[in-house]
Order: sequence, then C-alpha cells, then structure tokens
Amino acid sequence: MKLSTPLLLSALASGASAQGGPYSQCGGTGWTGATTCQSGWTCIYSNPYYSQCLPSTSSSSTSSKASSSSQSGSSSSSTSSSTSSTKTSSASSTATPSSTPTVGPSRLTGKLPALGWNGWNAYGCAISADKVLAAANSFVSLGLQDAGYQYVNIDDCWAEQARDSTTNSIVPDPTKFPNGISGLAAQVHALGLKIGIYGDAGTATCSGFPGSLGYENVDAASFASWGIDYLKYDNCNVPSNWTDSGNPPGGDWYNSNSAIRYRQMTAALVAQSQPIQYNLCIWGNANVWQWGARVGHSWRMSGDSSATWSYITSIINTNVQYLDAVNFFAHNDMDMMEIGNGALTLAEQRTHFAAWAFLKSPILLGTDLSQLNSTQISIITNSELLAFHQDPNIGTPANPFTSSTSSGTTTPPEFYAGASSKGIHVFVINTAGSTATKTMKFVDVPGLNATSSQSFKVHDMWSSSDLGTFTTSYGVSVGAHDTVAVLVTPV
Ligand SMILES: *[C@@H]1O[C@H](CO)[C@@H](O)[C@H](O)[C@H]1NC(C)=O
Ligand SMILES: *[C@@H]1O[C@H](CO)[C@@H](O)[C@H](O)[C@H]1NC(C)=O
Ligand SMILES: *[C@@H]1O[C@H](CO)[C@@H](O)[C@H](O)[C@H]1NC(C)=O
Repeated sequence: MKLSTPLLLSALASGASAQGGPYSQCGGTGWTGATTCQSGWTCIYSNPYYSQCLPSTSSSSTSSKASSSSQSGSSSSSTSSSTSSTKTSSASSTATPSSTPTVGPSRLTGKLPALGWNGWNAYGCAISADKVLAAANSFVSLGLQDAGYQYVNIDDCWAEQARDSTTNSIVPDPTKFPNGISGLAAQVHALGLKIGIYGDAGTATCSGFPGSLGYENVDAASFASWGIDYLKYDNCNVPSNWTDSGNPPGGDWYNSNSAIRYRQMTAALVAQSQPIQYNLCIWGNANVWQWGARVGHSWRMSGDSSATWSYITSIINTNVQYLDAVNFFAHNDMDMMEIGNGALTLAEQRTHFAAWAFLKSPILLGTDLSQLNSTQISIITNSELLAFHQDPNIGTPANPFTSSTSSGTTTPPEFYAGASSKGIHVFVINTAGSTATKTMKFVDVPGLNATSSQSFKVHDMWSSSDLGTFTTSYGVSVGAHDTVAVLVTPV
C-alpha cells in the first residue's frame, strides 16, 4: 500500500507538467520550460535569469501549502495536524507518517547562502556548550559578525543515547550542555547570532545518537522550542526499505524514498512557529540538485570535506556540473570550510574561500577560530567576496567559461564569470602546481558583451584596489593553486 503514494504523485505530476510546480523555475534567460504555475502558485520574477513559482497568497510558505497539496487528499490533513498528534500518541517505535508531504521550505529564511561556523571539522564528537559559545564570542571579537557571519552550528553528538521515555523527545547531553540546548541558544541569541543543530533522516545519527526518521514532528517541535534557527539533516542509518535502488517512481527523484525522508522533515519544520533554515546533508545522492529547492534551502553535493587540495578541486569539479540549481533559496553545499585545518597553503585557503563564495555554497567555518592568524582572518572576512556571496539582488553563482587564452582544459575549470549588483566579476583559479600567467580576453567573458578592442577597468577584489584600465585583455601572474578575483567594468 505504501507504494501507491509515490506512484499517484508522479502520475499527477506528469499530467501537470505544462505548468510549473511549487518553487519550480518558470522563466529567465534561456528558460524553455513552463512559464505558468499550477493552481495556488504564481510565477514571480526574481532576476533576469530566474522566475519562480511561489505561493499566490503571501511571502510565507507555511499557510498556503496545505491547500496546494490538496491533490494528495488525506495526506494534507494528516500533515497539518501531525505536530500535536505525534506528541501525544506515539510511544510506538516506528511512528512513520503515513503521508507524503508536498510542503515546501519556509521563504522567511535561507534566501542567501548561510554564513557561519560548524564545530565538526574542529572537534568531531568532542563538542560542548563551552566550545560553541567560544566560537560565538570569536564571531564578535574577530569581526566575523560585522562581516556577516551569523550561524553558530552544533553538529553530531549533542544528545543522550536514549529519547525521553515519556515525551519521545531527544534529550541534550547534560554533561556537554549543562544548560540544555535552549540555554546555549539564549546565550548565542544574546550576542545577536543564530544557532543551528544537527539531526539525521535515519534511525540513528552517523555517530549513533537518536535519528529523526519517524520522529520528525516531535524533533522539529523540540528544535523550535529551544530556539534553533538552522538544521543540518544527515543521511546515516537508513532502513533498507527507505533507501533507493534504481530509478524512483516516474523517474522523478522528488518521489524517491530519499527525498520523501527529507520531505517529512520539511513538513515538520514549517509547522513550527519560527523559520528554521534546512540543510539536506544527503551527500549528493538521489539527484538532490533536481529537487532540493522544493524541500530545503541547501543540500550537500558530496561526502565530508577534508583539508586537502584534492578535496577542494574535486568538489568544485562536481559542483560546476550542477550550477543551474543555484539561486535564491537554493544552494549547492560544498561542505564545511577547512581553513585553519591541515596543511593547506595560503593560496589554497584563498581558493577554498573564493570558490565557496563565487559558487554560492554555504560558508560554515570549521576550525577553532581562536587559532586563526591575521592572514586567515583577512581571507574569511574579505568584504568584496562576501558581498558577491551575499548579493541581495542576484542569486546566481559565477559559471565557468571557455577562455581562448588557455592552452587546454583543466579539472576543475580555471575561468569563471558571474554578475553581482556591482557588475561582472571574473575569477581565475591557477590549478597548476607552479606560478603561471593567466590572461582573460574581455570578448570571452560572458555578460561583458565586449568588442574586440574595448577597454575595461579592472578592480582587485582581494585588496579592494583598482588595477587600471586595460584594452582587449588583462593578464596577471598567479601563484600555484591561488585564485584571482576581479570586477571588470566598461570604461
Ligand atoms: C519501511 O518499513 C517501516 C516499518 O515497517 C514502515 O513504517 C515504513 O513506512 C516503510 N517505508 C517505506 C518507504 O515503505
Ligand atoms: C598564517 O598561517 C599560514 C598557514 O596557514 C601561513 O602561511 C601564514 O604565513 C600565516 N600568517 C601570519 C601572519 O602568521
Ligand atoms: C550584455 O547583453 C545582455 C543581453 O543582451 C544584457 O542583458 C546585459 O545587460 C549586457 N551586459 C552589459 C554589461 O552591458
């Protein structure tokens, strides 16, 4: 019987394909798909590259989607009533919701890629309230908060092994978090910052603490009551009947078992009274870039990061294949930062930060912030790269382009261009292990519309300085694994 729900949904979805579904694209430069939206949704212009089907009534998605999911009949009523019923009813072990929610994520959070910190890369399971609070205080003292960093996020290992036997709630570990998560959240909020937590779409987290599959409503209610602003939702310990083997019903990965596990948490989160940003830590599985924006605000494109040049280049190379998925409320997550960890050179740390910024990945620092030196602080607080990343008017990332000056293809690509509120930016990664001269011909740069002998002003984003006026092309010597970042403006 369970199989009938995804089959029914996919049949309905394909019948309605002439009109855009919830949160789907419905216009923009080069767009050839549907330009109208299904009933209850309106095609809203975001920018020249993107229009999107949004709820017809308001900016908040919470109220309108119960009605928009009416095609699945009984499921919408169980979704809207499930918060209270789960809390009172289920001491039973597998309280899996019987419906498949179609509700989308909140539009009150997650428009721009998150900027913050997560404790995992620095501390792993050895997390505590003291370490989280130290990171929050460093946001203030090191100028990170002024630069726009907001989220201080707890990863795995914050809970006790067993749920509360009466309420079914996850219980914070009282040794690590003596004031609970709510006490810590209050301290973080008092600094003007936001706090994130970690959960898992399986029976246990990756480190073996309680998973939220079947407990989405009770856990989302706990997170909300503690004051949580952000959820990273991992993908460990998934029962075999909840995994995907082969293609999902109708070939639509939105109806895969993986997506449905994440959709159940979407519905639970949007039923709360405050917006919670939702990161799908799904490791690039189930073609998540195709449906991630209908379910959450950002989604992991890979397994865990490591503090190596090979990780940085391989995740850039993966991500550049799926940049069409990136826009406001929709971010490919290249995983937490490794600046400050391992043996990355300063050039590699600059490339790491620049690429996460120009591809609009969440940037969550992953180190003991008190150990960063002044050069590293200046990298992660670079105001012009952060302004590109956080641009309120343009949601699309920079994209690779073919440069007629390069001698061959590289992995990852070396030349990228993208628009911001200030104009057209070019980013060039030297993927080689030695210094090389990189030349951009202005005619090659998408968006500049240059003629062959036109002059442009070139401005260095790293140093916030004007480099001069150049005709036809601009060339610069770039150190091994370093990245050039410039703004190019017509004279
Ligand atoms: C997997 O099995 C559990 C326990 O029988 C059940 O509650 C759940 O609905 C099943 N999941 C799917 C996707 O069929
Ligand atoms: C900061 O650390 C990097 C290594 O990560 C080093 O190359 C650089 O010289 C240091 N800068 C300062 C100012 O100490
Ligand atoms: C380049 O041309 C496109 C399409 O014709 C236009 O939208 C864009 O504004 C132009 N860019 C500049 C920098 O003039």
